[in-house]
Amino acid sequence: MTDNQETPDAEDTAPSPSGSTTLPLRPQCERLSSNKSSVCSRSYFVVVMVFFHVYIINVIALLFYVHYSSGQDDATRSHDAPSSNHQSPGSGRPPSKPESLRDVSLTRIEGIRVGHVQKVSLVPGKVHEMRTLSLKPLLFEIPEFLSDDECRVVMQLAQLKGLMESQLMVQEGQEELAKELNLSPEEIFNLLDINQDGQLQLHEILTHSRVRDGIWLTPENLREIYTGLKADKDGNGLLSLEEFRRLSNDAFQRFLMQQGVKRSQLVRNSRHTWLYQGKGAHQVLQDVKARVTRLTRLPPTLVDLSEPLQVVRYEEGGHYHAHHDSGPVYPETACTHTRLASNTSTPFETSCRYITVLFYLNSVEGGGETAFPVADNRTYDEVSLIQNDVDLMDTRRNCDKSNLRVKPTKGTAVFWYNYLSDGRGWVGEQDEYALHGGCVVTHGTKWVANKWINIDPDYQRQARYQQLVSQQPEDEDDEDQSVNPEIQSSDIHQDL
Ligand code: OGA
Ligand code: CA
Ligand code: FE2
Repeated sequence: MTDNQETPDAEDTAPSPSGSTTLPLRPQCERLSSNKSSVCSRSYFVVVMVFFHVYIINVIALLFYVHYSSGQDDATRSHDAPSSNHQSPGSGRPPSKPESLRDVSLTRIEGIRVGHVQKVSLVPGKVHEMRTLSLKPLLFEIPEFLSDDECRVVMQLAQLKGLMESQLMVQEGQEELAKELNLSPEEIFNLLDINQDGQLQLHEILTHSRVRDGIWLTPENLREIYTGLKADKDGNGLLSLEEFRRLSNDAFQRFLMQQGVKRSQLVRNSRHTWLYQGKGAHQVLQDVKARVTRLTRLPPTLVDLSEPLQVVRYEEGGHYHAHHDSGPVYPETACTHTRLASNTSTPFETSCRYITVLFYLNSVEGGGETAFPVADNRTYDEVSLIQNDVDLMDTRRNCDKSNLRVKPTKGTAVFWYNYLSDGRGWVGEQDEYALHGGCVVTHGTKWVANKWINIDPDYQRQARYQQLVSQQPEDEDDEDQSVNPEIQSSDIHQDL
């Protein structure tokens, strides 16, 4: 602070026209606004004008920025739009095209509020009711989406094709994988110790074993293993680095093998198969696909280019622990379905399933609900999902603690968004709240089918992929289906 900072005030101490003789310390105009001196009002005027100009310049600069940045965005997106809207690509648009004219904007159905019912017209002569089950994730239920006959045909076609184990028993390759693991016990300890407190909590080991081996250990299982291997000498359920070091690298694996892993100890205990839904497929399968397109209001091309229908059967005792159908979005992750269009060899690959439509093909006698453990939670806290005693992801034991459970009813469809919107009409971040699983079937058999709609969160990659596929001759005659999806599926959704 320099002394001459005070100088502007000195100017304001001039006597006022009213003849006041006291020398004010503060400017006159602050004390008596109705009695301003000319000097005072001039300086005020200057200050106000300066502010005013700076403000105006800022506003103009901002307008320019918005104008040009949206223009550029339109220009890049319009060239290879992945949607099926037939606008001539690269038609030399001016860079100032407004946002609203972007070629693709994925429809996202509004949930309004839990319990809200919308009428939808999906098949001629019938109106379906679509009820919002949760907003996080955005989840809906549509009773009677499939007729009894359609359910029967889908189950029969799946049987005809043959169902395979959804998850193989602990793979042979596991032991070799363990040998190849080139990390010291300290390094492994450090990686597993997520909260970095120098101890391995039960959930830190559990999470790891599920990802690595696909074996779903419970905290009790783990305590038994500790006892069997005399790993946790002080019996506090925590492993110190010392205790961990004493465990040989594959002692865990060998112990599990000796005990024998039961199907019920896997992440998933079911059988499944895939049914192609394209041209030449059974009419019921094509009808289901068309209905899904109407339901989701997405461009038909996106639905056509998605995975086939997956049909799943759970026997009594079957389950599927809580999981995400889609992977998170990282820059270095590629989507399985657009692999063709990934120009570089990306280190990670994941399923990119924007929407899951799950159909119940039969009504289950006991259990088998679809559970959403954290649906509409106020906050999502991954650590609290697995605590030492209660594991909310365990659908064999803790479905009753899930926030939301859907009872399997023949013909009902539920669908939800596995990703949020990016706010600009495309796929955004993974929705963590979309975590779900199949509760253990206590009586009877459970049949479901999954229709996943694959969209790459990387717009350009999805566009390149569609470009590549459309150049292949067998897809040429699918083009007619893909004319303006907005028109095809407009006004089918109507609020009650
Ligand atoms: C799935 C799934 C839930 C269920 O197959 O991905 O989550 O209720 N199924 O079977
Ligand atoms: Ca720890
Ligand atoms: Fe799932």
